[in-house]
Order: sequence, then C-alpha cells, then structure tokens
Amino acid sequence: MFSAVKEFGVTGRAIKNGLVTVDVIDLRQFGQGNYRQIDDRPFGGGPGMVMLAEPIIQCVSQLKRKYGDEIPVMYLSPQGRRLEQKQINQFSNLSHFILLCGRYEGVDQRALDIIRAQEWSIGDYVLSGGELAAMVLIDAVVRQIDGVLGNCESIHNDSFANGLLDCVHYTRPQSIRGRSIPDVLLSGDHVSIEQWRLKQSISRTWERRPDLLENAELDEQQKQILEEIQNEQRVMEKP
Ligand code: ADE
Repeated sequence: MFSAVKEFGVTGRAIKNGLVTVDVIDLRQFGQGNYRQIDDRPFGGGPGMVMLAEPIIQCVSQLKRKYGDEIPVMYLSPQGRRLEQKQINQFSNLSHFILLCGRYEGVDQRALDIIRAQEWSIGDYVLSGGELAAMVLIDAVVRQIDGVLGNCESIHNDSFANGLLDCVHYTRPQSIRGRSIPDVLLSGDHVSIEQWRLKQSISRTWERRPDLLENAELDEQQKQILEEIQNEQRVMEKP
C-alpha cells in the first residue's frame, strides 16, 4: 500500500532526493508461533479480532533501541484526537517518529499504554485500517519539510497555513463557455491582486468554515476585510 507515498508525487520525489525516509515494517515479522500470529479474539466476546500486544511492543522496542527512547509513537485510530495543520507542522520538525497502523477491531490497550502511544484520527469517519490515515499524515508532513516543494510560496498560501481557506484559482483560457475570470487578475497590479485574493480567502472561510475564523489570529487588514464582507452580506440580506 505504501508505494503510493514511497514512489509517487511529492512524497516519492522527496524520498528519491533523500529529504525524508519512510520505512514500512510488517508487524508479522514479530508475530507469534508458526503462523506468525498478530491478532486474536477479543476478551468479553464480540465480532472481529484484536491486534496482539507483544508483536507491537517488540517492534517499538527495536525501533527505540535504534532511534532513542524518546521517539514519539503515533497510533492512527478514529478514537484519536483529530489531526489539524498545527500538529502536522509540529510533526514536520521531528527528526523521527513511528506510526502504528491498526487493523481489525483495534489494538490491545496494554500495548498502547506500554509504548506510550499518542492516538490521532484524520477525521470523523472509519477506515478499514490505519494505513491510509498514516499515508495522509505522511503526505501532509512531508510537504512541510524545507526543500520538498519547489516553490516555497506554495505552502504559505495553502489552506490553513494562516488559519484561512485558500483563495480561488483560474488558469487559461481566459473565457470558458461564456464565463470569464475576474478583471483584477489581468490588471498586472500585484498589490490589488494580493488584496483581492486575501478578500476571496476570507470570504470563503466566512461562508464555508466560520469556525476557523473564531480561532484565526487576524491582523488589522484581515479584520477590516472581514468586517467589509459581513457588511456586504447584511446589505444583500436586507429585503
Ligand atoms: N483508522 C480507521 N479510521 C481512522 C481514522 N478516521 N483516522 C485515523 N485512523 C483510522
């Protein structure tokens, strides 16, 4: 599964350029008995299987011997704290971390306690396993690492980079099926273009994710634009 991040796109290129390493470890290597068992039936009954504690503890111990006792372990699960850009930025400053992907019904809680795992979710929906969630986290972290993206502008303008959603984008041709692009984008006036983009970004955030604006630290110019947008809306709502 991990060839998606190891071989393709931005993450694949970052790995090829030696900016980041992603090692995938098959827990079955630490499995028990002839069948290399890594799961068993849940105590108390119920459907599904639970991942055994011992293979996980042994695997993490081996990695701690290699990378140091303090290496953070993150367990991906829908029960975890929801990941946001803020945490992704923090993770991108870590030299190493371990991602534990659960399968089946989950992991024996004692393993999570012993390895002192942080539990993280990528959203309020359930995936069949932690691997896709881990890949989401890897992609989001890797693109924050210096030198990974060609034009470093690109992360500064990302949605969430400044607590706001990204603005709208247009490319050629100038007109499609009778729809043209806003004139300001053809004006060549970079100050006006930046202001227009900021207003777009704030008004999108206000319409789609007002919750983000409650926590965003807006500067004076941004506050003023938000007020302008709110006033324009009030005028439009008047009968
Ligand atoms: N594993 C299954 N669902 C998940 C989710 N929403 N986030 C992280 N890991 C998961």
